[in-house]
Amino acid sequence: MKTLIKNGTVVTGGKSFRADVLVSGETIERVGTDLCTEADRVIDAEGCYVMAGFIDTHTHFDLDLGTTVTADNFPTGTRAAVAGGTTTVLDFATQDRGMTMQEALDLWHKKAEGSSCNYGFHMAVSEWNGDRIAEIRPMVDQGVTSFKMYMVYDSMRVDDGAMYDALKRTADLGCIIGVHCENYYLLQQKIRECREAGLTGPTAHPLSRPDIVEGEAVGRLMRIAQLAGTPAWVVHLSTEAGLEEARRAKARGQEIYLETCPQYLVLDDSCFSEPDGAKYVMSPPPRKKADQDALLDALGKDEIDFIGTDHCSFTMEQKALGKDDFTKIPNGGAGTQNRAQLVHTAAVRTGRITIEQMAELLSGNAAKVFGMYPKKGLIAEGSDADIVIFDPAAEETISYRTNLHNCDNSPYEGMHTVGKARDVLLNGELVVQNGTVIRTGTGRFVFRGKSLRPNR
Ligand code: URP
Ligand code: ZN
Ligand code: ZN
Repeated sequence: MKTLIKNGTVVTGGKSFRADVLVSGETIERVGTDLCTEADRVIDAEGCYVMAGFIDTHTHFDLDLGTTVTADNFPTGTRAAVAGGTTTVLDFATQDRGMTMQEALDLWHKKAEGSSCNYGFHMAVSEWNGDRIAEIRPMVDQGVTSFKMYMVYDSMRVDDGAMYDALKRTADLGCIIGVHCENYYLLQQKIRECREAGLTGPTAHPLSRPDIVEGEAVGRLMRIAQLAGTPAWVVHLSTEAGLEEARRAKARGQEIYLETCPQYLVLDDSCFSEPDGAKYVMSPPPRKKADQDALLDALGKDEIDFIGTDHCSFTMEQKALGKDDFTKIPNGGAGTQNRAQLVHTAAVRTGRITIEQMAELLSGNAAKVFGMYPKKGLIAEGSDADIVIFDPAAEETISYRTNLHNCDNSPYEGMHTVGKARDVLLNGELVVQNGTVIRTGTGRFVFRGKSLRPNR
């Protein structure tokens, strides 16, 4: 089966140029001007960008918190993801205490059956001991080359020594570790202060996690990575305070990777006062306008490497588990479908980043850092035919009613966006046409290799 994408502007590898793209089977066969060839299908991309399929570096599908399970599983979450132009999600397989990484990986492979986009797994690790250390290499041998550790959440957090040791032991294997950076003890104290002040609702959530709670933790991770002599990846960076710590580490010569999320670019903490404020309870929380501005500025300066969504959806009924106690509101929001349209609207159309930067932030950089390049993250001969045809003029007002997430709320409800995925090819097959998902369940596991570590 040959598909010819004609008349579009290819945006890839930091450049844009007019070119046609010929797909043969699952692979890009040729990129060039006026490709006159016999094709089984011709797609006219006039007025659109032709980009490497987007990679969502951060999703939580079918995640069991103990009190409740995320509203989206892999079939629903990946259907929404691909509708938004995401052809690969990197979900967090989670090794709960008392479980091996292998058990977690096997479980996540089962959960991911029936996915509508391609998927890989980071392994979230809740304990660090001889047994877990022995599992790192088998994970690498099975295509899992990135890990996450948490500084908070009672059931997941590990101490600084564990992080230091994990960083040291994994870097030589070509792995990268991401850390959820918040200061656990400051957070506990701030929660106590909120309770003493009689604050029980969603507005207490950002008060209990001020920017310094993240900033201190990012600074600490930077020093831990410096001591280990390894790269580190800060997941869901949300504050200027954290950004400044990362800048200091980079100025010392450290190799640091930063991820932020759309919620930290388009939402601010005034949202918590809305009647359905619980839907915004996610960690870290949306911040101040000054933080938004600092992150947008950093995106424009190529100081941030990728934008993932941290999609972790809960219905309003689930959010109501914390109606009398904000610490019991399940943390997270729905967003994997909306990432590209939000970034295009809030960052490209406002002139904060270029369309070429958007392509790298949504796909190219992640493919490199997470061991998928040049098969993914690039429009070039020989690359996988995971392709998005992105219409920069398409308008939409986001609503949970039209989103494909299995969720009755959206943090972006009512936001007007300009720019949207029109058509998507997944493994060479047309799966989204004119914004409608026309083929489901064909996503595959992405076996990832060593991190290319482009910031070295
Ligand atoms: O609130 C969030 N982000 N929930 C998902 C877990 C995490 O910390 O990434
Ligand atoms: Zn996290
Ligand atoms: Zn997360």
